[in-house]
Amino acid sequence: MTMSDNKPNAKKLTDWYQSQKRPLPWRKNRDPYPIWISEIMLQQTTTTAVINYFTNFMSKFPDVHALAKASLEDVYEQWAGLGYYSRARNLHKTAQIIAQTNFPQTYVDLMKLPGFGPYTARAVSSQAFGEKVGVVDGNVIRVFTRVFNFKDPWWSTQIQRRIQSWVDELCQTENPSDFNQALMELGATVCTPKSPMCLICPWQSSCGSFKAATQESIPVQRPKKAKEIWLWTAEVYFNLKNEILLIQNDDVRFLSKKWVFPGEAIQVQHKPEKYNYKHGITHHEIYVCVKKTTTKPKLGPTETLYIKPEHLSKKSPFSLMKKAIQFI
Ligand code: ADE
Repeated sequence: MTMSDNKPNAKKLTDWYQSQKRPLPWRKNRDPYPIWISEIMLQQTTTTAVINYFTNFMSKFPDVHALAKASLEDVYEQWAGLGYYSRARNLHKTAQIIAQTNFPQTYVDLMKLPGFGPYTARAVSSQAFGEKVGVVDGNVIRVFTRVFNFKDPWWSTQIQRRIQSWVDELCQTENPSDFNQALMELGATVCTPKSPMCLICPWQSSCGSFKAATQESIPVQRPKKAKEIWLWTAEVYFNLKNEILLIQNDDVRFLSKKWVFPGEAIQVQHKPEKYNYKHGITHHEIYVCVKKTTTKPKLGPTETLYIKPEHLSKKSPFSLMKKAIQFI
């Protein structure tokens, strides 16, 4: 299908956005730094949840130099609860690169930085520098598959390339920043996964799904990847100074290279009967048994660290770890 069959109108969408947009703290100006931070955070959670994280992050690290000079632990601390800690690590690494040169102004150059994939590079270059490159995220995929009443597997590379080229074509407008944000805003507030509000949609008249009444079945459902189930016995060992022992995890795939409690993690077929709590990390479902002990656990060759319990969130800000402490 070419877009000319049923081309939606970019200006109509941008006009709608300009009259309806939410006043979000990262929409105040075109400074690439807050735009970048907000875009990375928005990949983790909802806009409402991001507002607080964003405000705290900006007051702690007001510009790219402040972020570059900070310790990784302080960055992790601001990130605690958002998940995907490699993103926080990449933010820090990239801030150090940018602080020594300057902010790259095109999506091609942004893509060379750690943590910048096609989506983030395009979002930042269009919003901060006005580059005419379209963004494709989950919201945009939903809007376009609906507009074209498109039943193909949207997760395939080939189809995503096609969607990218439609968005790029429409993005050749005088205001690519507002066009991109309008698309995402439409997906987040009107063209929602369930019960979309078609009656107030600026693209209703060119929407194939609206005409065919297929909004609830498009985008088609992606087959789900099976989750790995793990059982982790976390040993919380206190030394005589009342400090807890952490080891650098080089054993299991979740929280790889992070500071964790020693203990055994095994992959299992079924949910165990006894456990203290359950925690999900991407494709892992982790059932945790917490064991407080005063006998030092046997360790393989690994880095170790003793810390006061109140410093745990600095060294290891992960929910999986924080929850364990509540059981002792
Ligand atoms: N989701 C991610 N980035 C966004 C933006 N700039 N506007 C609206 N929703 C978004």
